[in-house]
Amino acid sequence: MKKLILLTVLVLAALPLSAKPYFKGQKEYLRECRSCHGSSQFFLGKFTPERWAELLKDKGKKLAFNHIKTGNSAEYFKSKQYLKRIEYFQAYVTHYFKKAKKQ
Ligand code: HEC
Repeated sequence: MKKLILLTVLVLAALPLSAKPYFKGQKEYLRECRSCHGSSQFFLGKFTPERWAELLKDKGKKLAFNHIKTGNSAEYFKSKQYLKRIEYFQAYVTHYFKKAKKQ
């Protein structure tokens, strides 16, 4: 019984974390970007925060344009899902650089 209570507490404590925007952005990366770009830990750091800001502004217009132009996952980059979730991805990028600064 004690174990069950502990488990419930742990699950409840973890819930708010999964609702954070950056967490959703990380999930989006795993689903939609990782197959081509590999680990986010490595890939996000390949670009400066300024470059990311440029690619992601106006709902990720430039990032989408560059992929559609080269025919990489064009369907996804034209989709409503992309427009909806790009803000989560942006939050993930911000979170990534905040964490990187602390180290
Ligand atoms: C189907 C494969 C594919 C998928 C899926 C994909 N990319 Fe790319 N991406 C590419 C290719 C190919 C390039 C061009 C690489 C180069 O120029 O060397 C690229 C370029 C980029 C660049 C550099 C753009 C620039 O103009 O500097 C970024 C940043 C990037 N991708 C992020 C993402 C993100 C974020 C996702 C997920 C939302 C994603 N990619 C999904 C294939 C993909």
